[in-house]
Amino acid sequence: MRLNLIILLLFFVLHRNGEAQDIDYKKQIAPILASKCNSCHTAKKKESDKKPKAGLALDTPLGIRSGGVLEVGDALSSELYVRVSLPKTAEDLMPPLDEGGPLSSREIELIKKWIDDGARFGSSDTEGLTKLDDTLDARKVLGMPVREPNVDAISHLEEIGATVTPVSVALPEYLSIEWISTYHKITDKEIEQTLHLAPNIIELDLSRTKLTNEGLKHVGKLGRLTHLNLSRTGIDDSGIKALSDLKSLEWLNLYGTKITDASIPIIAKYRDLKAVYLWSTSVTNEAASSLKKSLPDAKVVLDTDAKANRFNDLDEPNRFDF
Ligand code: HEC
Repeated sequence: MRLNLIILLLFFVLHRNGEAQDIDYKKQIAPILASKCNSCHTAKKKESDKKPKAGLALDTPLGIRSGGVLEVGDALSSELYVRVSLPKTAEDLMPPLDEGGPLSSREIELIKKWIDDGARFGSSDTEGLTKLDDTLDARKVLGMPVREPNVDAISHLEEIGATVTPVSVALPEYLSIEWISTYHKITDKEIEQTLHLAPNIIELDLSRTKLTNEGLKHVGKLGRLTHLNLSRTGIDDSGIKALSDLKSLEWLNLYGTKITDASIPIIAKYRDLKAVYLWSTSVTNEAASSLKKSLPDAKVVLDTDAKANRFNDLDEPNRFDF
């Protein structure tokens, strides 16, 4: 009896110790970065609209993950650790010597352990994410304030083959999602999972995926989309209807789909549209000209000749390649 009790107690003591050693990003790491780094490394827009130093934003998990300074599980190879652990005399020391550096040895040790343990930003449990809130509708998403993207939702999408990147270092809240080498495996089910990041996604590349008209209903709820690539997917006019709430669209690629003139009235309502690609579809010249009349500032690309110049005036066009 007694021995059992001792073993039980021992178990609790060991167990609790194990827990206490896990580094909590929010409680232990974020406060160090906030007080010692973020005066220089922040992506938040300031009055002067200045960029973070070295293009590195340390004030959001996404900024840290996308900054190229983290080798998960290996602090010694991580610039984030190397820079804070240099000797006082080193020029590269962070924070700089006259700007609050170096960190205390306890702070340095915490950063090391956090990276070595896998640089986790929160619970890595994505189980709960597969169930979606069905009250989410396009209008509500559009009205939501932009907030930091949910890191668990990002890792969940990455696990199912998506590449998730902030559209710019200065705006880490806004995301671009694409399936670069995994597109052939991507169905409506995976595409539905993007809804977890609906307020943050502004660019979505579904080119060559197994997207169907059903899946377009999910896409239609991503109310902040500015760039959408649906080229070479199995969608047609009946699916396009689901996209009528995407009022912010500036760039739309429908190349190689089965759409016809029947989709033109919906496209004509995208007042911010700068370019739409319609070659290898059943859209007629007449319908394309009428679209051009409704949207005089937009480039309407119907024939393959115009394809050569298809990316004029567009930022980083290759991301939305054919
Ligand atoms: C006073 C402003 C300032 C503070 C405070 C500061 N940094 Fe920096 N940091 C810079 C500047 C400027 C650079 C670019 C020049 C260089 O590489 O040394 C830089 C570069 C870096 C780099 C290299 C980025 C790269 O892509 O190579 C890392 C990593 C870094 N800082 C981490 C930190 C960390 C971690 C802290 C807080 C513990 C911090 N910095 C605090 C100004 C600052």
